[in-house]
Amino acid sequence: MSILLLGGSPAAVSSTGRLLDHVADQLAIKSPGHRYHKIQVRDLPAHALLHAETSDLAIKRALAAVADADAVIIATPVYKASYTGLLKAFLDLLPQDGLAGKLVLPLATGGSQSHMLALDYALRPVLHALDARHVLTGIYATSSQLVWNEGSGLAVDQAIAWRVQAGVDGLAAALHGHKAWKAQQEQAAFVPQVEPIRLAR
Ligand SMILES: Cc1cc2nc3c(=O)[nH]c(=O)nc-3n(C[C@H](O)[C@H](O)[C@H](O)COP(=O)(O)O)c2cc1C
Repeated sequence: MSILLLGGSPAAVSSTGRLLDHVADQLAIKSPGHRYHKIQVRDLPAHALLHAETSDLAIKRALAAVADADAVIIATPVYKASYTGLLKAFLDLLPQDGLAGKLVLPLATGGSQSHMLALDYALRPVLHALDARHVLTGIYATSSQLVWNEGSGLAVDQAIAWRVQAGVDGLAAALHGHKAWKAQQEQAAFVPQVEPIRLAR
């Protein structure tokens, strides 16, 4: 299966990016054998992104990576009680059913617990509007629950470790079922249309 990691933080040194990598690492341990592709939206050409130039090669490749993904792990910091405008600029380039048939695991980081529902009231409706097949329960962490150490990497507090574990278990199980669902969809697409029989009088 193909997993897309989609990061929506404008910051190059980013708690959100670290949480995204951590969740991907845990998924690779729990459910090995998937292909991973990462897009940090801030790395896309700004002019092309803001002018919705879908003919731009980098934007084209990013959109193709979304189309190719079976699952998208999408991560954003909370900005002004919502997900980032940067992430929205990219999501706006997707076709209306741009997440059709895909599993989505949303992640967010914020400065406090006050906006932990932003994933559910702001991001989740957009993911459903894009026709995601299944949006799993999101994982929200405050910056203080994610401690970075240059030597040992990211340390997450126990509550976040449990949430990551539950999210990864849920996505691994959904990916397992997704394989069979995808095979069924592909088979259904090849069922020949039966012409109605005209009886001779
Ligand atoms: C412009 C801006 C707006 C923010 N708005 C909120 C907010 O409304 N609620 C909140 O909990 N944190 C808010 N924060 C804090 C960030 O969500 C938090 O520091 C996050 O972990 C940053 O992620 P990053 O390291 O990937 O940039 C804001 C930060 C910035 C820079």
